[in-house]
Amino acid sequence: MFNPQPLASNLNELILSVSGLYLNLGGQTLLSGLNLNCYEAGVTLVMGANGAGKSLLLRSLHGLLPVEGDIRFAGRALPETLPDQAMVFQKPTLLRRTVRQNMEFAASVDGSEAQIDTLLEEVHLKEKADQPARRLSGGEQQRLALARALLTRPKILLLDEPTASLDPGSVMIIERLILEASSAGVKVIFVSHDIGQAKRLAADVVFLHQGAITEHSTAQHFFSKPSSREAQAYLAGELLI
Ligand SMILES: Nc1ncnc2c1ncn2[C@@H]1O[C@H](COP(=O)(O)OP(=O)(O)O)[C@@H](O)[C@H]1O
Ligand SMILES: [Mg+2]
Repeated sequence: MFNPQPLASNLNELILSVSGLYLNLGGQTLLSGLNLNCYEAGVTLVMGANGAGKSLLLRSLHGLLPVEGDIRFAGRALPETLPDQAMVFQKPTLLRRTVRQNMEFAASVDGSEAQIDTLLEEVHLKEKADQPARRLSGGEQQRLALARALLTRPKILLLDEPTASLDPGSVMIIERLILEASSAGVKVIFVSHDIGQAKRLAADVVFLHQGAITEHSTAQHFFSKPSSREAQAYLAGELLI
């Protein structure tokens, strides 16, 4: 079993610590004893082939699955941490309302009107604020989902392939916002199977294979000389994505 070591470049605060995480569904063990330590700085990428368990891990971190084991964010356990967490799914889940109403529905903090305008501007949706959210393009919907998640001022932002199959403009806007949020102190955990994107965003990479973590390395290490056979095969294009 993989045992996490502190990452050399991440000598700051431990923000996420997972130990002995198991997920059994329908008689199958889908996550088998994950141990993981993530530090505050930088975006953590979760990579792995299709079906490796990336979405299951992220949903587990958001308290959506009946897992066994220990998950702690800055020492605190679920569900106490849920108000500090936000998650964006691969398919955005928007209300049948306008863009602005989708934001207002998520807003619960003082001064949120100004914050709504700022965020809508950042995702280039200010002009579409009064349009029905569900008529936006896929890229626009996902930009709105991310803006809405950020409006809740999360300390932890969980993103499950939020840019898969989006137009390059939307990908750029979303990546910029994610890096900004990360620099502002939000811990971002990002699932992607896009190697180019991972190289642009990652401080460290968690590699999953068949429900287990085979490697957790700094991005520099992971992309230049991955330690695990599975990650080597994946980066060489030998594992199906
Ligand atoms: N509710 C479920 N019951 C049984 N198997 C599941 C369930 N959800 C996902 N799986 C299986 O678990 C594996 C990992 O799924 P997932 O985390 O979605 O993979 P990915 O890494 O592509 O995001 C897949 O083989 C999937 O079929
Ligand atoms: Mg997935």
